[in-house]
Amino acid sequence: MNTSVSKTGFEGYLKGIVERSEKLSYYPRTRGWGFVLTWAHRVAGLILILYMFFHIYTLSGLYHPARFASKMKFLHNFFFSFLEWALAVPVIFHALNGTRLILYEVFGVRDDNLMIRQVFFLSAIYVLTLGVFILMGNQQVSAALFWVMLTIAGAMAATILYKKLWHTENSVLWKLQRISGAFLLPMITGHMFFMHLNYKTGHDVETIIARMSSTGIKLIDFALVLSVFFHAGFGLYTIASDYVGDKRFRGGLAVLIVLVLLVFAYAGAKLVFSI
Ligand code: HEM
Repeated sequence: MNTSVSKTGFEGYLKGIVERSEKLSYYPRTRGWGFVLTWAHRVAGLILILYMFFHIYTLSGLYHPARFASKMKFLHNFFFSFLEWALAVPVIFHALNGTRLILYEVFGVRDDNLMIRQVFFLSAIYVLTLGVFILMGNQQVSAALFWVMLTIAGAMAATILYKKLWHTENSVLWKLQRISGAFLLPMITGHMFFMHLNYKTGHDVETIIARMSSTGIKLIDFALVLSVFFHAGFGLYTIASDYVGDKRFRGGLAVLIVLVLLVFAYAGAKLVFSI
């Protein structure tokens, strides 16, 4: 895959900064930009998994609404709002770079330089727009309409990929990894946007409980839990397999990954159906 990026305009300026620093340019020089992007994708995926654990832990506070409300009050300051916004960086980078990989592997879109530029360009637009929405904090949208539209988009993306991919010789888990990625693309990026349209939507205990009590939202949240945990679990296993040669140790690690993720997936599903 040719991932050498030409030096023009703003992009060339950014690349120049990296190349001027001996430390920053070490991996692009010695291993190439493809290697750097692969690692950035991995690191972003791992950050998302850590956040997902933290997210389920925080949401479990909904069993005690008063405690949840005081937790939200504690987190309602510039520092945590900034971290919430900063989370958009790994979210959108992983989502769009994952989409680039799917377009490359499955649809044969080989113009990699253009695709990489688009990943960075669209990611910047997403992160900045989200920042503007967080600062305004006064947008309203119907939760039912928003989630029906996103779920249709996710289901369509997953179905198109399923039709294109299912008959190929890749392993079933590999195919499901890509298909779940296609489903998650609108769901996760939309989820983040939705929660920041105004402060109450994502942080007010009564608003959250009222929304989560709807059967439609429960089904959508459950689909999200299943696909995120499968996708994350197989992702973790793929990373582990790259470093663990011993077959038995790898098997043990797979069991450990499945167990840990099952515990969190169970906590997430229980939350969805008992609120
Ligand atoms: C939002 C839409 C998403 C898309 C389009 C997407 C796409 C992908 C793709 C195509 C891969 C395979 C990369 C490869 O094998 O080279 C992948 C790997 C991975 N994903 Fe996602 N993903 C998404 C969301 C998530 C989420 C929400 C998480 C975690 C909660 C996550 C965690 C991971 C991990 C840990 C890997 C393994 C990284 C690796 O093998 O290098 N992804 N993703």
